[in-house]
Amino acid sequence: MQKRIFSGIQPSGVLHLGNYLGAIKNWMELQDKYESIFCVVDLHAITVPQKPEELRQKTIEVAKIYLAAGINPEKSTIFVQSHIPEHTELAWILNTITKIPELERMTQFKDKSQEFRQHLNAGLFNYPILMAADILLYDTNLVPVGEDQLQHVEIARTLAKRFNTTFGKTFVIPEPFVVKEGMRIMGLDNPAQKMSKSASSKYNYIALTDSPEKIREKIKRAVTDSGKTIKYSDDQPAIKNLINIYALLDNAKPKDIEDAYHKKGYAEFKKDLAEVIVDFLKDFQLKYNDIDDKEVMSILQQGAEKLRPLAEKKMEEVKEKVGLI
Ligand code: TYM
Repeated sequence: MQKRIFSGIQPSGVLHLGNYLGAIKNWMELQDKYESIFCVVDLHAITVPQKPEELRQKTIEVAKIYLAAGINPEKSTIFVQSHIPEHTELAWILNTITKIPELERMTQFKDKSQEFRQHLNAGLFNYPILMAADILLYDTNLVPVGEDQLQHVEIARTLAKRFNTTFGKTFVIPEPFVVKEGMRIMGLDNPAQKMSKSASSKYNYIALTDSPEKIREKIKRAVTDSGKTIKYSDDQPAIKNLINIYALLDNAKPKDIEDAYHKKGYAEFKKDLAEVIVDFLKDFQLKYNDIDDKEVMSILQQGAEKLRPLAEKKMEEVKEKVGLI
């Protein structure tokens, strides 16, 4: 039987190159080998303050981004999390086997509870349980994500094992999937922190919707290291990050980029990198703008319809195992 992958992105903030290189690019490559399910996780997005009209728009936008990036709805299933109520139903049951210290340890919770101190809600705390439900509901084998989500995939593994031990074998134990160069794309203004959609400065990230002028400006302003050479090394984290972006978009190895710029300066490297990004995003944006919202809605509906029987069957099994009549 073909193995299954599942992944998702929140419809909040702006999607950036980190999301693309850490997640979506790998999905596109994996969809030929695996039965693939890609979700727009709208229920996760409401754990932080949000505007309903924006959420509606962003949900469609994220689905369009999947399609423009090359996720093929003929091969992969694309859907919206809230269209399948079994996600929240399973999350409730998993809540009851999750230990509070396991959630307290989550780095994303610690970061977000600082950022949204006025809005510290139980949903934000329980967030990893809903993510575990997303993954476990479909007997997922592989979860392609960026490094920041590894801790959450680990919780999903823990809960699957705990449920299986307590109630009998029910869930597949999922494995994370990351690509080394893309799993942690760092901020352009601060290579010590990951590129983030909630960053306070727009010079932190390249949004997938940025114009060529903006991209050139942002790359020009990207911080560099104190050295002068284009070297792929942990001692030069800023250049290492830029080389990673270059290599992934150019389908090259970091070493090839290092060799090509061996005798060249930062200015030339940055100028070329900006053009690589501009070319990639021009093509991406053309495809994005060509996708009709109605077509997206229909793909999302079909996706949910296809998955519903799987979700219902798994929930029946879970309820029976737990003793719900
Ligand atoms: P989210 O929406 O924050 O991010 C979506 C994906 O982008 C990756 N990512 C990055 N990768 C590399 N470098 C970066 N700077 C960077 N920033 C973000 C994330 O690792 C992620 O893969 N909880 C998830 C969404 C989710 C999910 C799931 C994922 C909900 N249910 C089930 C997989 C399976 C999240 O908030 O991702």
